[in-house]
Order: sequence, then structure tokens, then C-alpha cells
Amino acid sequence: MGCNIGTILVTGGCGFIGSNFVRFMLRKYDYKIINVDKLTYAGNLENLSDISDHPNYEFVRGDIADKALIEGLASKGIGAVINFAAESHVDRSIEDPRVFIETNVLGTQVLLEAARKYGILRFIQISTDEVYGSLGTRGSFKEASPLAPNSPYSASKTAADLLVRAYYKTYGLAAIITRCSNNYGPYQFPEKLIPLMISNALEDKSLPVYGDGMNVRDWIYVEDHCRAIELIMHRGKGGEVYNIGANNELSNIEIVKIILKKLNKPESLIKFVEDRPGHDRRYAIDSTKLRNELGWDVIYPFEKAIDRTIRWYVEHQDWWKKIKSGEYLTYYERMYGHRL
Ligand code: NAD
Ligand code: DAU
Repeated sequence: MGCNIGTILVTGGCGFIGSNFVRFMLRKYDYKIINVDKLTYAGNLENLSDISDHPNYEFVRGDIADKALIEGLASKGIGAVINFAAESHVDRSIEDPRVFIETNVLGTQVLLEAARKYGILRFIQISTDEVYGSLGTRGSFKEASPLAPNSPYSASKTAADLLVRAYYKTYGLAAIITRCSNNYGPYQFPEKLIPLMISNALEDKSLPVYGDGMNVRDWIYVEDHCRAIELIMHRGKGGEVYNIGANNELSNIEIVKIILKKLNKPESLIKFVEDRPGHDRRYAIDSTKLRNELGWDVIYPFEKAIDRTIRWYVEHQDWWKKIKSGEYLTYYERMYGHRL
């Protein structure tokens, strides 16, 4: 597979999914990849230290909301933009929504405008299933489901999606939106459920489970998400939305118990704590369109991929221990101090 893309501008490539995507693409293709990342608390140069010297890779530290910087990069002859850059954590958006609007909404608009101005043909907006809101016990999100975001994070991602749509309708920019479910895998910042629970368990610390632990998420291994983006970048149709998901629904308490069992740690570490405000009850994503139209499927079943993921965090304790010091400790105290 391959087409006339040449250079890809990846944003947020030092975060969890972006770093997995950059590594995956450099291994498989000859594309040049320019990674622009602001290096917020979630951006980590170590996530790509193994490929930082790759001849097809260039890192630029910067903000996607910086018009001059982004237009300067876009003018260099970019074939595709893949926008991963975002403030991505729901709990942080509840504490302080402002930066979510600055990056997720205004930053996306700057990228769209640069893509329009310099005639960039492919623009992939990495959105989320959270834009659809919350489900009851039955049904799943389709691409045509109503947008009903419930947190400042998901509201900012929805606003960005609507801007992407408007740039397609108004200016004919061949932009595509992808909406994926919850990812897990290596290099995920340990504020998110799976790496937080694995690392806390390894340190024999309490595992804070919100509410009754029965909220359901639909889990996908990060490399399967990267493979979907790869396919959509090559063969997706401008103006379309593609849902991405692995049909793998699990309640939070099920996930936590699986992790404890695999690490041989006691369930007494589980602590049910005060719930997240506006906590979405259930997500389930219908990815029939992507499967039927582009022939995508998962290659990493949950049972195998969760083992692989746990092993990665066991073998990379230096990576997450370094993160879980300094500023993270203040965050953890703010977020969990009153709950635990
Ligand atoms: P992350 O928080 O791990 O990484 C975000 C990256 O963006 C970091 O490297 C950060 O430094 C960078 N960044 C933040 N603000 C920036 C700015 N203004 N300019 C440039 N760079 C900036 O996030 P993630 O989990 O890898 O998510 C990546 C994308 O995928 C996000 O858009 C998110 O909404 C979406 N998404 C995530 C999931 C998931 O389960 N993690 C699922 C579906 C969609
Ligand atoms: O669905 C896709 C989304 O998945 C992405 O758009 C977001 O960027 C990503 O952060 C993720 O959002 P969630 O809110 O679903 O992920 P998080 O890991 O924060 O929480 C997963 C579930 O676990 C959720 O029901 C809340 C619960 N939880 C989370 C934390 C951090 C706990 O019970 N305890 C915790 O300490």
C-alpha cells in the first residue's frame, strides 16, 4: 500500500497514540514524518527515543495553535496532516476546561486553515467516541448517531469535529474524522485507567475505582487503532467519519480485577471512590463501515494484547516511575487526595 503523500505532519506525536503511530509508520513506509508537539505534561520525548535519529523523522517543539509555526511547516509541501495533538484527559478537563478549548478547538482550526491555504489533500482528525455521549445497556454508536458530549473534554473534541465538517462543506478540504474507542498499550500516560491500575498495583498502592465500577468502555489495542488510521489515510474518503472499535466491552471493575489477577496482587487493593462528575456510563462503537468499506479488522485480541501491555509496564518501570514523580504527585494529590 502507499500513495503520493511524501511528507506527513503528525501533531501530538510525543503522546501515547501519536508515538505508537509514528513508530509504526516509520517501520513500514518511507514517508518523511514531521512531528510537532508542545511537550505538555503528557508529551514525552522518551516515547520516541528509539527512532529520534531516523533519517525520515523530524521533531519540532511547538503549539498547534501557533499560526505562524504551523503555516511555516505547511508551506514545506506536506501531503497529509494527522492531528493527534490534544488535551486528552476527562478528569483534567473537569478541573480546568480552558486549555481544552485552546488546544482541541483553536489548535484544530489553525491546522485546518493551514491545510486549506496550502492545499493539503489529506487531513485526518483523530476524534473520539466520547463525542456521542453515553449509552444505556443496549445499542452502539454509529457514525450517524447524535453528538451529545458530556464533559468539557468531549465537548471540545465535538467542537473540533464540527469545524472539520465545516471546512469540508465550505472549502472542500478533504478532511476525514476518525472516532475511536478507549485505547490501551505501551507508552500510555499513567493517569488513564489501565496504566494507572497496573502501576499502582505494582507499587502495592490503592486502585481508585470511580462509583460502582460498572461503567463500561470498549477497549482497543493501540496498534489496531494505528492500522485503522493508516488505512483511512490511504483509502478513506474526504468528508467521511469512520468509527474505530474492537467490539470489546468491559466494565472498569472487570478490567481492574483482570490486572490484579495477572499481576498476582490481592483484590483488597481496590478502593471504590467518589465518582467522576458527569461520568458516561457506557461506550460501545460500531465500526461496520470501516470493516466493510475499507476491509479493516483487529489483529490483537484483548486476551493477548492485555498480557503484552501488562508485560510492557512491568518491563518499563523506569519509564512510568519517572513520570509518577514531580508534577504528577501534585496532580495525584489534587485528584485523589480527598477520595482515598
Ligand atoms: P496524550 O495525552 O497521550 O498525548 C497528547 C499529545 O499532544 C502530547 O504529546 C502533548 O504534548 C501534545 N499536545 C497537547 N497540546 C498540544 C498543543 N497545543 N500543540 C502541540 N501538541 C500538543 O493523548 P492520546 O491518548 O495519545 O490521544 C491522542 C488523540 O487521540 C487525542 O486527540 C485524543 O482525543 C484521541 N483519542 C484518544 C483515545 C484514547 O483512548 N487515548 C481514544 C480515542 C481518541
Ligand atoms: O473513549 C475514548 C476516550 O477514552 C478518549 O477520547 C480519551 O482521551 C481517553 O482518556 C479515554 O477516556 P475515558 O474517560 O474513558 O478514560 P479513563 O482512562 O480516564 O477512564 C476509563 C474509565 O475508568 C472511566 O469509566 C473512568 C474510570 N476510572 C478512571 C480513572 C483514571 C476509574 O474508575 N478510576 C480512575 O482512577
